[in-house]
Amino acid sequence: PHNQCRYSYEDYMETADWLLANTVHRPKVAIICGSGLGSLVDLLDDKMVFPYSKIPHFPSSTVAGHTGLLVFGKLQGHECVCMQGRFHFYEGYNMNTVTYPVRVFFLLGVKTLIVTNAAGGLNGKYNVGDIMLIKDHINMPGFAGQNPLCGHNDERFGLRFPSMSDAYDSELRALAKETAKEQDCDSFLQEGVYCMLAGPTYETTAECRVLQMLGADAVGMSTVPEVVVARHCGLRVLGISLITNKVVADYDNSEKANHEEVLSTSQRRTPDIQRLVSHLIAKIE
Ligand code: 6GU
Repeated sequence: PHNQCRYSYEDYMETADWLLANTVHRPKVAIICGSGLGSLVDLLDDKMVFPYSKIPHFPSSTVAGHTGLLVFGKLQGHECVCMQGRFHFYEGYNMNTVTYPVRVFFLLGVKTLIVTNAAGGLNGKYNVGDIMLIKDHINMPGFAGQNPLCGHNDERFGLRFPSMSDAYDSELRALAKETAKEQDCDSFLQEGVYCMLAGPTYETTAECRVLQMLGADAVGMSTVPEVVVARHCGLRVLGISLITNKVVADYDNSEKANHEEVLSTSQRRTPDIQRLVSHLIAKIE
């Protein structure tokens, strides 16, 4: 049902106004929690929880392992709004639906977006369990004509031709590095390029090699559309990938990428990511 949808400015406004009328929170930071990383929400105080299905115009999620809750609350005393469960293109949602929440965040008054995801490691130096700060991305669906900004441009959100050359804020990355040191996460901290593929298939060996040649360090099936729309409307972005598995880049390797490994690595690193993000929030602004 969501693969035809386009939205008007009024749709986004109605969602934002409804949320503002139903919560006292006025967050300046929004967090999109990736696969298995939703437990960040457990750290929130003074929570207000909205199932996506209860929010006007909000898309609702389908897949197992992806819950659908919008949670307002305080992390280390700082107000934020968290998506527990995001919308993936591979589920059949179109790019406007995948990115719907980001424009709602903008209309709520959010200034900073933190996106997390689970990703496969392409860089040979990376280990399973590493945390990669995203310094740049490769929008592979964009190469294939799937960019969330295709179609009519609403100037109230941003420019027709927005720059993506500084998509991942260098100050936020510096803050994240500093925080990682303080939180004993720096021994497994990396910084690199994230490549989005549409999924839901994992990469073939030949495809992994292509992505390595293109300069990608990690590969996943999310994040880039949300970042494109966030940058369009002027939000600052911090992207964090958890390397949940290594991609299979040679024919002698009999291992296979699988969702169970992705979820078990996320679980193992949950406390570290929780500490990193919550202490980072305290330093923003
Ligand atoms: Cl290996 N590939 C893709 N496309 N997405 C992933 C992944 C791999 N691991 C976690 N997410």
